[in-house]
Amino acid sequence: MIQIQTTKDIQKLMKKYQKEGKTIGFVPTMGFLHDGHLSLVKQARTDNDIVVMSIFVNPLQFGPGEDYETYPRDIERDRNLAAKAGVDILFMPSVEDMYQQESTMIVHVKKRTNVLCGRSRIGHFDGVATVLTKLFQLIIPTRAYFGMKDAQQVAVVDGLINEFFMDIELVPVETVREEDGLAKSSRNVYLTEAERKEAAVLYQSLQYGAQLIQDGERDPGVIKKQICSMLENTTGLIDYVEIYSYPDLESLETLTGKCIIAVAVQFSKARLIDNLIIDIPSRKEGK
Ligand code: PAF
Repeated sequence: MIQIQTTKDIQKLMKKYQKEGKTIGFVPTMGFLHDGHLSLVKQARTDNDIVVMSIFVNPLQFGPGEDYETYPRDIERDRNLAAKAGVDILFMPSVEDMYQQESTMIVHVKKRTNVLCGRSRIGHFDGVATVLTKLFQLIIPTRAYFGMKDAQQVAVVDGLINEFFMDIELVPVETVREEDGLAKSSRNVYLTEAERKEAAVLYQSLQYGAQLIQDGERDPGVIKKQICSMLENTTGLIDYVEIYSYPDLESLETLTGKCIIAVAVQFSKARLIDNLIIDIPSRKEGK
């Protein structure tokens, strides 16, 4: 595995691969790798000649009071995991190199951000879109891999790629879960033992919502209420329980088509999110 630390060096290397006509799979991460990241690498490995992973804890996507300083980091462990998973190039730039002395540009995301995590994390998706624009520009990937645990991020990246005519195939990869259903996340390490047990209810509540839809319920208000009471009985502070169309993330009066049920719960030191995407067939007239 080649390790690269500067924007200049990665650009030089990627230009060489492009000239050789290699397909490039890109897995952007903020490190502290877990099975979710490794499943992205596995998919990228299958689809491409070269697999590039970036590890960069992006300060621009953390708001004041969020966990930028304390975000879990373990570069030695990440290096080993990335190499074992089959990453060819590990790119680990510094903040100074990515943002230079005085950044004067950001990418502002105008849609799909005033809901779910975007509602409480003002500027978060501008930070994500800005760093990804820079990373895409440096790496020029054929395909870019993102976990569906951050379904709102996938929707935003979809908009970014389409609106800026980027010649990149977005590959969403299914969420990887622990045995009890908890979605794998770098932030799970913040949970206390008791919270870790409680946290399984996030996925259970989503499955309960899906079951209600399966049983014929189409009123998002009713489903949200039921999910909320299930969460309230078991766990920490509910940040949101929401249902929207996907990927447009628009409110629906009656559920139909591709929809997302999403939850976010604040524990003592971690805010966890999870979601399910459900394709709901439209009802036939008269039924
Ligand atoms: O999902 C993440 O880890 C980050 O938001 C990303 C895509 C690496 C951008 O910093």
